[in-house]
Amino acid sequence: RARRSIDAHARLVPDFPEPGVAFKDLTPVLAAPDGLRAVTAALADACAGAELIAGIDARGFLLGGAIAHHLGIGVVAVRKGGKLPPPVIGVDYDLEYGSARLEVPACGIEFAGRRVAVVDDVLATGGTLCATLDLLKQVGAKVSDVAVVMELSGFPGRARLEAAGAGQVHVHNLCEG
Ligand code: PRP
Repeated sequence: RARRSIDAHARLVPDFPEPGVAFKDLTPVLAAPDGLRAVTAALADACAGAELIAGIDARGFLLGGAIAHHLGIGVVAVRKGGKLPPPVIGVDYDLEYGSARLEVPACGIEFAGRRVAVVDDVLATGGTLCATLDLLKQVGAKVSDVAVVMELSGFPGRARLEAAGAGQVHVHNLCEG
């Protein structure tokens, strides 16, 4: 069902973000009532057994809340730098051009020893998700699953994540693009 919704609603944008690249826009999938439900259920299956969902800024927030609600567990937003009130724990990571930072609250959320599943819309280079694994490891969480709607082929994201998770992290996708 999730695959059918993605095929029905994903929009192909030619020459974005650069000439020659066909970008698959998932925004209409989540805007469709059947799409959100199907994608949520499929990603929730991949996250079964988690005690907490971590959704990555920004589209991971939409998915993370829906998945956590589906599973009857809590959700935490992994936010870009400077958005959360102190105290925070953060990690800096390199982008193709420049660098970025992700943060989670350092207080008020029990991460230590808890099974956390991480969700986002897209896995490409894996930089964002690897930084998130690093961050969650720093706060003592046990990440066993990473779930995305789409994994882009031709990028090293999966290999980087599997290496970062030392073989303990399963990477799930609903489709490849
Ligand atoms: C996109 C996407 C993922 C990330 C994947 O987010 O939503 O979070 O890139 O790319 P990677 O595997 O190469 O790290 P973006 O950084 O565009 O931020 P946004 O969600 O705020 O638009």
